Amino acid sequence: MTHPLLAPAVMLAAPGLGRRPARLCGVEETDAIVVLSHTERPIPADQVLALYRTAQWWPERTPEQVSAVLRDSPAVAAWHGRELVGFARAVTDGVLRAYVEDVLVEPSRRGSGIGQAVLERLIQELAEIPVVTLFCSPDLVRYYEASSFVATSQVVMHRSGRW
Ligand SMILES: CC(C)(COP(=O)(O)OP(=O)(O)OC[C@H]1O[C@@H](n2cnc3c(N)ncnc32)[C@H](O)[C@@H]1OP(=O)(O)O)[C@@H](O)C(=O)NCCC(=O)NCCS
Repeated sequence: MTHPLLAPAVMLAAPGLGRRPARLCGVEETDAIVVLSHTERPIPADQVLALYRTAQWWPERTPEQVSAVLRDSPAVAAWHGRELVGFARAVTDGVLRAYVEDVLVEPSRRGSGIGQAVLERLIQELAEIPVVTLFCSPDLVRYYEASSFVATSQVVMHRSGRW
């Protein structure tokens, strides 16, 4: 598995740039999928961990860590009934910068607009932040460009990676 933090491109998005319309947006429902922020509908940490497991992501993360992250920073979920089928979150100072993390869709539901919907909903949550950044693998550059992220020539550097 290639983790998204490996060989990343750096992508930036500025609010208001021309984005194509999402097939799912905000609290709109399509095929019983609802996209809501953690504030609107709390996201249980154990369901986030279960979703991570579908992609073999972050086996070292604990429910306590994920609960703390959800409490302190923006997160968005796509729900099919009680099932968490999509997720995205951000790390932000709340004023100047935000970093999108953990954009993930349950494997059997990919390709139906859920990923784009959670990303666009998260960007709405970050509407006051002038620069939103994410790291992704090169094969996802075009995917994020569709949501107005622009690849930069900057290099992403990590210290003490545990992925
Ligand atoms: C990447 C991911 C979140 C996309 O979610 P998704 O729900 O499958 O994507 P969507 O259905 O919203 O895709 C919307 C559009 O992007 C396109 N797209 C999806 N994945 C793409 C990719 N890897 N590269 C280019 N385009 C892609 C779709 O074809 C679709 O295009 P269309 O509207 O012209 O048909 C999902 O595939 C996933 O969870 N992948 C594993 C985790 C991951 O890599 N996350 C990203 C971390 S940076």
